Amino acid sequence: MASARGEFSSRFGFVMAAAGSAVGLGNIWGFPTQTASNGGAAFLLIYLVLAFCLAYPALMAELIIGRHAHSNAVVALRKIAPGERSRVVGSWTGVIGFITASFILSFYAIVAGWMLAHCLGALANMLGATDIASWLIEDSMTRNVLFMAFFMLLTVGIITGGVHDGIERWSSRLMPVLLITLVLLVIYVLTLDGAMDGLKVYLLPDFKAAISPQLIVKALGSAFFSLSLGVGTMLVYGSYISDKENLPVLGGIVTLVDISIAVLAGFLVLPAMYVALHNGVEIFTAGGALISEDTLIFTVLPALFDTMGAAGVVVSFAFFALMSIAALTSSISMLEVPVAYAIESHGLSRRSAVLAISAVITLVSIVILSNFEVLFGMVVGVTTRYSQPLLGFMYCLFAGWLWQRNSILEELRKGAPEVEDTLFWKIWPSYIRYVCPAVILVIFLQALFG
Ligand code: TRP
Repeated sequence: MASARGEFSSRFGFVMAAAGSAVGLGNIWGFPTQTASNGGAAFLLIYLVLAFCLAYPALMAELIIGRHAHSNAVVALRKIAPGERSRVVGSWTGVIGFITASFILSFYAIVAGWMLAHCLGALANMLGATDIASWLIEDSMTRNVLFMAFFMLLTVGIITGGVHDGIERWSSRLMPVLLITLVLLVIYVLTLDGAMDGLKVYLLPDFKAAISPQLIVKALGSAFFSLSLGVGTMLVYGSYISDKENLPVLGGIVTLVDISIAVLAGFLVLPAMYVALHNGVEIFTAGGALISEDTLIFTVLPALFDTMGAAGVVVSFAFFALMSIAALTSSISMLEVPVAYAIESHGLSRRSAVLAISAVITLVSIVILSNFEVLFGMVVGVTTRYSQPLLGFMYCLFAGWLWQRNSILEELRKGAPEVEDTLFWKIWPSYIRYVCPAVILVIFLQALFG
């Protein structure tokens, strides 16, 4: 059966796919404003430390388990579990993981639909179709449902192609476009008046604002979301890596790319906000904090683009195209989690698995859209604040306590014969055993009671 599974054809293909999963709305939308409101460079520093010291080890746990089992999370966790009871726990961890991934996709597709609509709205403006443009940009149930479904169709189209012809091919095409667009936007925005004020807010460290336990917990939560951890995404991608590859290096590159893009996005979003301020757009809330989240993306930035004259439509198009691409390379990694399970554990063909699962997720998205005020925040909260850290905790237990250390070493040696002498092997096993689960537990308790 393993031979019938897909495999990434190259190291580049895997890195693009996994970085594509990691780089998403979280990087470009979440990270920059979080940094700005929480002590600038000081928060950045804490984020970097946490990402490398905790998120990277957790990512490695998923990659190693996945590559070892060459199967979806449910089968993989059963395989490394030493006894009957831990096998049952493993199955449940995998099952809750793919359910969580599906719910994450159900809200992610809604937000990504808004990005697509704004992207096409800018295009319509360029072509002079202002009526269509304003319909695309204004919030309405019809628009939201149509564009969520449109985004799901794109995701389905890619995932139907499988690992090599779908995920790898499209990630390798889209990620370079994303990077180039981002760099061009950063360069352009930095030349505008007011940009330097934004840079100062981004880069001047304010340690008093950054060093609070709550904030550290928040930074770790974002690092976990940003690296797509807990739900089995990285495990499934890991299961498609060839045995020849050096896993600690691959995981390191993915972490580095993810963080670099988040940092780079900070050079776009923060300066852009202060350019907007310079152009007369309000960028602070009544409480004096920087406007963030949806109001930032769909109100402040469009208002900024409006003040830019003719260049504004082009910049707007590029920005929302960037967001849509970032979302698409992430959403495919979410859909692949339940799809891999349905194919491998229930014998469905890829096409039927993709169609059935995406139909259910689309229905859930419609239900969320119809009860937006109540359900949207709830689904985001339950999946990212509770489910993800708890599942991440389970992965650490499996990699740190239940799976034999020798088998882990053997797995790593396949692509890295000298791994035993590396810093990675000296530190990682105890990290994943003690530090990661303890810290994740703290996040979880904080989310529960804090
Ligand atoms: N990491 C992506 C982002 O930053 C989102 C993402 C993709 C994700 N796959 C995931 C989050 C799995 C949680 C679980 O936007």
